[in-house]
Amino acid sequence: MEKPLRLKLAVQKSGRLTELSTDLLVRCGLKFSRAKDQLLGFGENMPLDLLFVRDDDIPDLVEEDVCDLGLVGLNVVEEKKLELAARGYSARFEILRSLDFGRCRLSIAVPDEVIWNGPSSLEGRRIATTYPYALAKWLTDRRIRAEIVTLSGAVEIAPRLGRADAICDLVSTGSTLEANRLREVEVLLESHAVLVRTPVELPKEKSDWVARLLMRIDGVQQVRESKYIMLHAPRAALPAIRSLLPGSESPTIMPLEGSADKVAIHAVCRENVFWETLEALKTAGASSLLVLPVEKMLA
Ligand code: PRP
Ligand code: ZN
Repeated sequence: MEKPLRLKLAVQKSGRLTELSTDLLVRCGLKFSRAKDQLLGFGENMPLDLLFVRDDDIPDLVEEDVCDLGLVGLNVVEEKKLELAARGYSARFEILRSLDFGRCRLSIAVPDEVIWNGPSSLEGRRIATTYPYALAKWLTDRRIRAEIVTLSGAVEIAPRLGRADAICDLVSTGSTLEANRLREVEVLLESHAVLVRTPVELPKEKSDWVARLLMRIDGVQQVRESKYIMLHAPRAALPAIRSLLPGSESPTIMPLEGSADKVAIHAVCRENVFWETLEALKTAGASSLLVLPVEKMLA
């Protein structure tokens, strides 16, 4: 018997995206087993295995077709594109989806006490970063000459050690900056997780699974915000009520037994339903309001 072809998907080994990435895949139906500290997570119910690696290596692994897919921050992808461009190549991996998690910014930060007069304050200064290509481009675009101090980590302590006057690093909650008495002054890039794929054409077996996975990812992303709402309302209030339902297309409207002018309305709202919306619906005549989470959705 021929061995089935298995997709290989690279995820961050340990970091901000690790749990969020595996969580997305589990919501897509994947059950996987991984022995402690193992590089490989074996997909038990799908021909899809996870490769746990350093996030900075993910674009290369996908570019070189070691992995078919990768979940990684746009910040890492953009830095890799610039690095390849500087060496005369263009990136061949493809971004398949922007994902709704892993939000952060690549920013310039300076010690709290430094007076900031805009980007020109960096003229002639040393900036520590693990993103030398993104930083170099940003500086060049602004015609600022500064020294880029490329580090492999622990960028936030460079100013205190006297190795740099400023840093260029990822900021998510801002707590790392605060703990190191640094303040964010410029944003170079807004980032979030993306799904990337190899430039190499995949055999049908594999590409079929990529298509299924994409459909499930879209479904997962849609339901995260979606709610199912049920309510009663007088027929006369229907136009007002429909206009208040956030992001819903065509609600189901049903007669209510024993009531001539009242109906029941059920609708999927593609956005979160806030208390303010419920209050407005009530004011418009709605009663018996119920909001439920949506578990799965397939367009
Ligand atoms: C980034 C960055 C900071 C931290 C900022 O590291 O280097 O250390 O996150 O987050 P905060 O604003 O919530 O404190 P990341 O986890 O991405 O690891 P890596 O840069 O080593 O991949
Ligand atoms: Zn990293």
